[in-house]
Formats: sequence, C-alpha cells, structure tokens
Amino acid sequence: MENVFFTITTLYKAWRAIGTKIARIWLGPDLVVIPLEVDYCTQILTNQLQKSKQYQVFDSLISDGFLFTQNIPEWRNMRKVISSNFHFSIVKSYINIFYDEINILIKKVEKFADSGESFQFEPLVVLATFNMVMRSTLGIDPKAQERNENIVLEATDRAMELGQLRMYWFFLKNEMIYKLSGFKAEQTKITEILHDYTHTTIREIRQRINEKKIQRQLHGEMEEDDEKKVRSFAEIMLEDENHIEDEDLAKQIMSIIIAGQDTTKSENTAVLLMLSIHQDVQDKVVEEMLSVFGPDGVTSCPTYEQLQELKYLDKVIKETLRLFPAVPILGRNIDKDENVAGHILAPDSTAAIMVFNIHRDPTYYPNPDVFDPERFTPEEILKRPVGAYIPFSYGPRDCVGKKYAMLQMKTIASSVLTKYRVLPTPECNKMKDIRLEVRSTLKLLETCTIRLQRRVEWEQDRV
Ligand code: HEM
Repeated sequence: MENVFFTITTLYKAWRAIGTKIARIWLGPDLVVIPLEVDYCTQILTNQLQKSKQYQVFDSLISDGFLFTQNIPEWRNMRKVISSNFHFSIVKSYINIFYDEINILIKKVEKFADSGESFQFEPLVVLATFNMVMRSTLGIDPKAQERNENIVLEATDRAMELGQLRMYWFFLKNEMIYKLSGFKAEQTKITEILHDYTHTTIREIRQRINEKKIQRQLHGEMEEDDEKKVRSFAEIMLEDENHIEDEDLAKQIMSIIIAGQDTTKSENTAVLLMLSIHQDVQDKVVEEMLSVFGPDGVTSCPTYEQLQELKYLDKVIKETLRLFPAVPILGRNIDKDENVAGHILAPDSTAAIMVFNIHRDPTYYPNPDVFDPERFTPEEILKRPVGAYIPFSYGPRDCVGKKYAMLQMKTIASSVLTKYRVLPTPECNKMKDIRLEVRSTLKLLETCTIRLQRRVEWEQDRV
C-alpha cells in the first residue's frame, strides 16, 4: 500500500513539472481524473456531491452511511440532522467532555513520564477520541479509556484496511477471489462485531429517551447539565415522526464513529510528534498557554474564549494538518456535466483530489517538507489560493466536525503540555523519521513515538 502512495506522489510531481493540468489514470476498469490546479479542485468539490464509487468497497463492511453515500437526497437529510450537533453553541459545550477524557489519558501516560521510555501516543489517544465522539454526538459513554476496550476500534480499523485493499487490488472485487483469499470470512466477522455494537448503542439511546420521558412525566422539565441537554442526532432521528429503521440509524452511527475518531487520533498524535521534534515551537506554545491560562497552565476546564486565544497553537495545528492531512485523497464521482478549463470530464469517472500532494506543492509552500507554523499568519494565508489548503475538504460536503476538531485538539495539546514536556525519541527525532501509510486516512506507522518528562522536572532543569 505504501508503494501505491509513493507512486502517486512521484507521478504528481512529474505531472506538475511538465505543466499537466488534468491527469488521467486507470484504476482497474475505472477512469480516474486528477485535477492538478487547485482552482479545478475547488470547482469539482463545489459541484460534484457524489462520493466516488471506489468507496463502495466499504459498503459491505461498514455500510454506506452518510459519510460515503452516493445517495444525495439521503445525504442532504442526514447532513441537516447531524449539523445540528455541530452548531457553534453546541460544540462549545463539548469542551467539558474533551477535558474529562484528556485528564483520564494524562493519568494513563504518567508511567511513561516515570520510565522515560518511548511510546506510541496513537493507540492511547484513540480510546479518548472515540469516547469523546460517543459522548458528544450520541450521548453514550462507553468508558473506553477506563476499560481499555477497543474491539470496535480494531474492527473499524481492519474494515478500513480491507476496504482499501479491495480498492487498490481491484481483482479482490471478484467475489470468488475475495472468498478464496480468506478476506471474506474476516469481513463477515468484522461486520458482526460492528453490527452488534451499533445495535447495542441504539438500544441504550432508546433507553435514555424513555428514562428522560419518565423523568419529565414525574418531575416536569428539569435542570440538566449541558451534556445531557443536547439531543444527540440519534435521539433526534429516533424521536422523529418519520420513524427511522434501526439498520439505517446503525449506518449513520458507524459513519460518525469513523469520521470523528479515526481522523482526530492521527492529528492529535501528529501535533505531539511535531512538538517533540521542534522543541523551539513547543517552547512558544507553552509560553502562550501559560499567558492564557496562568502560571499553572490548564488546571480546570478551558473556556471557549481561552481556546480561541491560543493563536500560535492554532497555527501549529494548521501546519500539522497541512503536512499530515487525515484524509489525503478526496474522491468524487462525476455525476453531472463538469467543464474544467474547457475539458468536459467523462461522466461517471472518478475525480481524485490529491490533498496530501497539494499541501506539499512548492508552488504554494516553499520548502514544503519543513514544519513552519508561520505559514499560517493571516498575511501568508492570503497569499495562497483557497484550494491550496483543504484538510477539511471544501464545498457542501466538507467536514461538519471541523470546529469540533480544532477545539478538541487545542484542549488536548494544552492539557498535555501543562503536565509534560514532549520529547523526541531515538527512532523518531527528525521529519525524515516520520513514516506514513496512506489508506482512506493517513496512518502514522509504529516508529512514530514520543517520550514525556513531567513539567516540574524540566522546569527545574531549565533553572
Ligand atoms: C482533524 C480532524 C478531522 C479532519 C482532518 C477531518 C476531515 C474531513 C474531510 C476531509 C472530510 C470530507 C471527506 C470527503 O470529502 O470525502 C470530512 C467529512 C466529515 N467529517 Fe471530518 N475531519 C476531522 C474531524 C471530524 C470530527 C471530530 C467529526 C465528528 C465528530 C467529523 C465528522 C465528519 C463528517 C460527519 C463528515 C461527512 C460530511 C458530509 O459528507 O457531509 N470530522 N472530514
């Protein structure tokens, strides 16, 4: 899989060097067009709402919830309902959840600060980001961090891996070959795990709705804390008079789990990696954090206003998203006429928007592989076309969770840095040491490790 990614990257550079505007490749029987000018990319992302048919490999594994669906009316309805959980005023109320969960994680990583050993942050933070998504968007607390339980996460991860295999090794789309390869049996097992999990979740949500009803009948409207006040999108759908089938709701639950935890686990890990490799940047982040929160750093749940004041951290996160976009390639099906600079794109072909390559294109980012948060000053941002930076995609199908993600990443980084200094490791101390794999999402490989030192200790060392 690594090879596919490097081949695409090499091809992208070659096309750019010879001034190609739109490249074409065949992925098995499917024609894939690759727009190489960022304005073409934003045009396509604005006009073409259907996800590419390559994503259908995920259907049988995780169902075509609204993240991957080609059914535009269904997507529109779902987007409306789900967006209500991401309204600015509601996202603000999730900071409490982020803070709760990061505090659990901070305790769990204490042992690494004591031993000084290298460790991977991703397998730990994923339990926290998963719990955050479940609590905020579904009102369910699976206590994944306390239980150290990640069976659903392992299943989703493997589902994405299997889907990706079928996407690139198109001969696996043949059912007979798929069965003989042994992957089919594995898929059946994964599907069962995910089915059980989503249906148990739905039962819990129903129970919550009923309990709320009973409470209201007994005591009238009650004072509730912010978290309980928010009606999750699943509650909205279950209480709607146009009754939703459990199977349909399960698809949407899977979509939100994948969209919300897979992306943020990699990005939060990448932020800490960048800070470990760039100690000068970490110093500046800490300085800003102490000026916003006071000399002891984050000691209670940060407010939205405080997080907004973390302007330098904002730039650090944006630069991390540039170098390591969680969704490195966006795929759209060309389902309506699209005239790109005089070329009519073939109907039913796939447009592949190469986010990873755009973000490392020297036309927009000189010395593109260098980590430099100053690329995100307001003046520098204005110098670039809008399509040169699309970590959250662009257009009507962009990320509904982008505000959520930024607040969550700021809460996590500032809470971790309050307690610990993040240090590089022998195996990962330069940008070149960071090894990646591209699946549907970007993966940081096992060698991407960090070390921790308690803040009190490193402050003493500095004196
Ligand atoms: C740094 C973290 C994140 C990144 C980089 C990211 C990126 C993206 C991108 C690129 C897309 C569009 C995919 C495409 O066009 O094919 C997307 C869609 C989506 N994201 Fe995010 N995302 C992040 C976090 C989140 C979170 C935390 C949530 C929810 C809790 C979320 C929910 C969604 C949903 C529901 C969609 C589908 C939108 C639609 O099809 O209308 N994302 N995300």
